[in-house]
Amino acid sequence: MNRSLFRRDALPLLLLFLALVAATTATDALLHRLELVWIGRYLGIPGTLLILLSMRYSLRKHGLIAQGEPRRLLRQHEALAWLGSLLVLVHAGIHFRAILPWLATAAMLVNILSGLTGKFLLPRARRHVEERRGRMAARGLSGDQMDAKLYWDALMLDAMANWRTVHVPIALAFAGLALAHVLSIFLYWSWR
Ligand code: HEM
Ligand code: HEM
Repeated sequence: MNRSLFRRDALPLLLLFLALVAATTATDALLHRLELVWIGRYLGIPGTLLILLSMRYSLRKHGLIAQGEPRRLLRQHEALAWLGSLLVLVHAGIHFRAILPWLATAAMLVNILSGLTGKFLLPRARRHVEERRGRMAARGLSGDQMDAKLYWDALMLDAMANWRTVHVPIALAFAGLALAHVLSIFLYWSWR
């Protein structure tokens, strides 16, 4: 990745993702310390509910509900999905027996990364490239010269602009896998 793009634009994304990992580890450690590890098994439920609640944005966007200001719902989508994922991650941390819920967890993580890309990386990176272009124009560079200098930035922008083609289908895969996990839990009731 282009160094300047990385330093200026990718940092908040990485920090929020690392914050998720750190908060998961800290919560898990706390539950262990308090000998409340069993709670983790139940955290899948509030976690799933928070993620479902965050989907109000999508319902509003497609006109399925009329209430709520879209921009506020989008902020809520980001925050609630982050928080719900934290609970689900603590929940998932208990052990490794079944493959299905781990696939759901992987899909969820990919979604968080693509969501953060769409929120932070893309708009900031666009602004950064526009600024550079503006400075070059002021120095009197020709269009071709600017394109050559901005080649890697432009390539990065193209790749990042695809975040939505990851975010939405992976969300559907996540929903399917999570549903299968929840159904199998309730069918076989394996809460041991
Ligand atoms: C209503 C929501 C949920 C309920 C009631 C629930 C319930 C459970 C239960 C009872 C277990 C323990 C299974 C066992 O001991 O064999 C479990 C394990 C697990 N759950 Fe959930 N869960 C929910 C949502 C989720 C979601 C949304 C994810 C992932 C995105 C998830 C990921 C996992 C993982 C990774 C495990 C560990 C599986 C293993 O043993 O390897 N769960 N869940
Ligand atoms: C469990 C995790 C997540 C799931 C399952 C998820 C799912 C979705 C879905 C299905 C949409 C499409 C809405 C629509 O077009 O109807 C969406 C949109 C969006 N998500 Fe997420 N998301 C998650 C986490 C995040 C996070 C952590 C962020 C950022 C911090 C984020 C940022 C966005 C943004 C900016 C949009 C707007 C797309 C648009 O309308 O242009 N998402 N999300």
